[in-house]
Amino acid sequence: MHPIVLDCDTGIDDSLALLYLLSHPDADLLAVLSTAGNVPADVVCANNLAWLELCDRDDIEVCLGASTPLVAELMTTEDTHGPLGIGYADLPPAPRAPSSRSAADAWIEITAERPGEVVGLVTGPLTNLALAIERDPELPSRLRRLVVMGGTFHHPGNTTPTSEWNVAVDPEAAQRVFAAFGRDGAPAPVICPLDLTETIVMTPDHLGRLAAQAGSAPVEQPSVTDERGLRSVADNRVVRHLVDAIRFYFEFHADHDEGYIAHMHDPFAAAVALDPTVATTRPAVVDVELVGTLTRGTTVADERGMWGRDPNAAIATATDPDGFFDDLIDRIAGLAAQ
Ligand code: BDR
Ligand code: CA
Repeated sequence: MHPIVLDCDTGIDDSLALLYLLSHPDADLLAVLSTAGNVPADVVCANNLAWLELCDRDDIEVCLGASTPLVAELMTTEDTHGPLGIGYADLPPAPRAPSSRSAADAWIEITAERPGEVVGLVTGPLTNLALAIERDPELPSRLRRLVVMGGTFHHPGNTTPTSEWNVAVDPEAAQRVFAAFGRDGAPAPVICPLDLTETIVMTPDHLGRLAAQAGSAPVEQPSVTDERGLRSVADNRVVRHLVDAIRFYFEFHADHDEGYIAHMHDPFAAAVALDPTVATTRPAVVDVELVGTLTRGTTVADERGMWGRDPNAAIATATDPDGFFDDLIDRIAGLAAQ
């Protein structure tokens, strides 16, 4: 079992990452930390509580985290994830309140209770982890592994021409977190960048398979002429809410990317967190541009040793998307069928 802390900005693909972790027999999800990003932090927190409630997991701690980036003004992206961050899903609000401890406190205290054991997974801006490290510089050396969905290296950005959302929202946090790892006993984080996550493409067919495997009523597929015809007629509550979330993501990608599909950034990072062999990686020195008038928030990798610094990251460069989807569908269908 991998004791795991998820720090996220839920978020449609964050939702899938959360459900994947809940569904996986190797994951012992200790806490879900909420940070401002796709939507404001309190909305993220409500979403995390609601998904856990839907899955009867009110035993898992949910913490509210930073409501603003360290330095930058907060930007959110309701266009991408819907007004409440979960597309068209209409999740019943959870009756419980978040934990009394903050996300930064949770990072510090959980890793102090279990030094060397905890796998950290960040699928949103790195604000909470940066705040925690500022207060407790030993924290990175207590993590067993850190996996971050963020950045882009040889692929266009999705926020500015060269920057990826999770880094662009809080560049100072990303810069400080990356600088704190890969030395003094702190593991080099695995970074899952857009270069790779944009090759992991969900289609309506995947959702149809998920519904069928969950024993749910089929999900209507879009016709060739009407791409927006996907409708959730699923009778299973987890499948229905998930399809309602994801069809918003499909529509966003249809408007901005290459069709009625969705990139599975955060669920892929979750799979890597549980099993790093899912991705091929290469070591690199990674830093974040904070100053450039055109390039602020850009992740830069020194792959030829020009900076004379030791690698502080392992960049995920390749995977088997079909194997990833088989696993994702099997796991979440199993969760939904319970
Ligand atoms: C990242 O940005 C967010 O919108 C997604 O949830 C993902 O974590 C991809 O750039
Ligand atoms: Ca996210």
